[in-house]
Amino acid sequence: MRRIGVLTSGGDAPGMNAAVMAVARAARFNGMTLVGIKRGYNGALNIEQSGMAELDLDTVLDIADQPGTYLRTARCLEFLKPEMQQQAAKNIRDMGIEGVIVIGGDGSFKGAQALCNLGIPCIGIPGTIDNDLPYTEMTLGYDSAVNSCVEAIRAIRATSRSHDRPAVVEVMGRHCGDIALKAAAGTGAEICIVPEVSWSIPEVADRLSRLIAEGNPRATVVIAEGAFDSMQEYDWKTVLREHNLPVHDDDKISTRFFTRVLRCLTGCEARTTILGYIQRGRQPSAYDSWFAFEAGNMAVNLLRNGISNQVIGIKYGRVFCLPIHMALKDKREFNRDLYDMVNEL
Ligand code: ADP
Ligand code: F6P
Repeated sequence: MRRIGVLTSGGDAPGMNAAVMAVARAARFNGMTLVGIKRGYNGALNIEQSGMAELDLDTVLDIADQPGTYLRTARCLEFLKPEMQQQAAKNIRDMGIEGVIVIGGDGSFKGAQALCNLGIPCIGIPGTIDNDLPYTEMTLGYDSAVNSCVEAIRAIRATSRSHDRPAVVEVMGRHCGDIALKAAAGTGAEICIVPEVSWSIPEVADRLSRLIAEGNPRATVVIAEGAFDSMQEYDWKTVLREHNLPVHDDDKISTRFFTRVLRCLTGCEARTTILGYIQRGRQPSAYDSWFAFEAGNMAVNLLRNGISNQVIGIKYGRVFCLPIHMALKDKREFNRDLYDMVNEL
């Protein structure tokens, strides 16, 4: 293979630039040219001009330790259409690109699989902060996101301590509670709520009241953004109305409402923080930078050796690869032991 492409797709994740740098270095080492495909699969569709352009190694080296993705990223809905996938495969071939490295989550991997089926060899690197892929211990960006959360929650716990009041902190992760769990365990947070485990507002209020009664008025509740999917039904609107707090019939439960209900049920002065995009925009941690380096190199070597339709992951701390279809078939196992430890101790 003389010429390969690389793209980042889906939500950006710290370490994506480091992975592109590793791909660029491995490509140069093996005498290949590298084409950057811009804005996920949009670039392959040439939806805007110069969607695909050769990457300059010097530029790539400059941005390796930066957060975000230099190639830009996007969620390209057009690419879900089979005729658009064929067009993308044709455009990639017309550019002389013989293999593509896709850095993204499971949706992006399905896109890579579609390109493989159309004769474009692809390799996937799992780039998402959510850690929601079943086949790998860690996805690229997850460790950095957890580090962001830990830093932020430590700061929040400091002010909670000063005021003797609880904090409710919402973190990202879509349908996966891994960020919440590791961030909670990593900061000593007393309550963690995730989409994987059914929970109820009264149970959380009871635990919080017990902690307060035992002399801990400044507990931290870490809640994953997707956790309301596993919340047991509860008439929280009536609780708010009984306390003369405003709520509309069509309001949906959210972390802000949840905190207000906790205040009503426990009498505490809990405050809400929604961490949001600071979790994605952090410089990659050492762990993510290492993973990016090894994964980028492995991806190029696989293509060079004529192996494709694979994704890269980490198992027992070592970087490995397996076929895309196997990577997508399992359901992620949640670490229930750690969850119980956080919520019971
Ligand atoms: P992630 O890769 O982080 O899971 P998305 O689910 O948003 O993010 O997927 C990223 C992109 O991958 C989508 O915008 C689309 O371009 C492509 N994609 C997602 N699902 C498929 C699919 N089933 N077939 C082909 N391409 C897909
Ligand atoms: O998949 C990464 C992620 O940050 C999720 O944790 C979050 O739910 C989502 O992306 C946010 O997406 P957007 O960037 O479209 O707001």
